[in-house]
Amino acid sequence: HRELKPFPEGFLWGSASAAYQVEGAWDADGKGLSVWDIYAKLPGTTFKNSNGDVAADHYNRYKEDVALMAEMGLKAYRFSIAWARILPEGRGKVNEAGIRFYSDLIDELLKNGIEPVITLYHWDLPQALLDEYGGFESRRIADDFDEYARVCFRSFGDRVRYWVSLNEQNIFIGFGYMTGMHPPGVKDKKRMLQANHNAFLANARAIKSFREMVPSGNIGPSFAYSPAYPKTSKPEDILAAEDAEEILSHWWMDVYALGEYPKAAMDLYRGLGIAPEVLPGDLELFKEGKPDFMGLNYYQTTTYEANPLDGVGEKLEMNTTGEKGTAKSTGIPGVYRTTGNDYLERTNWDWTIDPEGLRVALRRITGRYSLPVLITENGLGEYDKLTDDDKVHDDYRIGYLKAHILACREAITDGVDLIGYCTWSFTDLLSWLNGYQKRYGFVYINRDETDLKDLRRVRKDSFHWYRKVIESNGSEL
Ligand code: BG6
Repeated sequence: HRELKPFPEGFLWGSASAAYQVEGAWDADGKGLSVWDIYAKLPGTTFKNSNGDVAADHYNRYKEDVALMAEMGLKAYRFSIAWARILPEGRGKVNEAGIRFYSDLIDELLKNGIEPVITLYHWDLPQALLDEYGGFESRRIADDFDEYARVCFRSFGDRVRYWVSLNEQNIFIGFGYMTGMHPPGVKDKKRMLQANHNAFLANARAIKSFREMVPSGNIGPSFAYSPAYPKTSKPEDILAAEDAEEILSHWWMDVYALGEYPKAAMDLYRGLGIAPEVLPGDLELFKEGKPDFMGLNYYQTTTYEANPLDGVGEKLEMNTTGEKGTAKSTGIPGVYRTTGNDYLERTNWDWTIDPEGLRVALRRITGRYSLPVLITENGLGEYDKLTDDDKVHDDYRIGYLKAHILACREAITDGVDLIGYCTWSFTDLLSWLNGYQKRYGFVYINRDETDLKDLRRVRKDSFHWYRKVIESNGSEL
């Protein structure tokens, strides 16, 4: 055993959230509607049609929440800005009350010694832009996102040093345009790849503006990276895993970090007649919009095997019920398909539990892109039970986080430049399709899908545990 390097001084021990999942106040103080305000209320979309109308009521209780963060000793808090709170119509008129809310939140964090990390886009597109031109399906999205980003840089760039451009573009585009499980509910791979290209344009434009307006700040996208493993050492399975890595991960991270689409995947899509239209200047723009770091949202790894030409396709179904063993195989005929991994436990939502996979993810990103990494999400979604004496004994969450933090330390020892580690999430919050039953927080929120109860905040066991981790700069797990 070699000696593990310590976490660096100033390491950002953090936790994260997203506007639609915590804020509530969906129509307060001049906020415009987002696509999620509409979509979650359509029949059959989310678990028990739960939505973010009230969520954790963070909009009204942010001071109480920041006080809890301060008590914990949190060094960084990642949150997202609701675009429609700032620009109710997506562009044009600025809603000063929206600016004030985030400005006050930032000041409250700084007053408590907590570094704010802003996510510009965590999936809540202004509905007005979807209605007007189809949102990400039009290249116009890049102009409007840039305008919105510039308002944010101008308003908060003096105080905020860390920024995330787009959260999990692979997920919101994949779910929005291919599986149809997120708004706008489209199921069309060609349209998905074009919307995705337009999202890259938006990302690069905003990063370009950031260079001009916040020259000393750091910005990067957050990518939902699920490293691909081969099922066996059979060459066909190795190739399947490599194809999965290229099609499902390099397709995004290469464009961010290198300004280019990976070749084999582009050839595959051209052959299928679904490749995105790339106009002259697009790739140059991508190269001008490179990030300072790769934001990593890590939850699990996925295992692949060869898939015959008449094998399973890409139709995904989410396990929203929290019933183990209901996830189905998915793939591209002739390329790859997902399969189980006998070495890994799974959560109730069939997500593999793989701390070593985090080390793999960090090393692959470092090896391919030579960028620093900020872990912007990692955590365990579980059913938590509030005991009669108002406690939550989430030892399973402590075990999960402990193993993943150890993997971070091993990766640092391997040479990874890791800036920080943000758990998902600080308080419990709305799990998009899974309602409020799937909890991630250090702080329990007393509500469920149908009953708002008192929205009381209760510190879970993991809250006290993470406080000590931070205090010891990760040396005491
Ligand atoms: C990420 C998102 O996909 O994972 C979060 O950025 C999300 O917003 C988290 O909540 C966990 O996913 P889920 O589906 O369990 O809520």
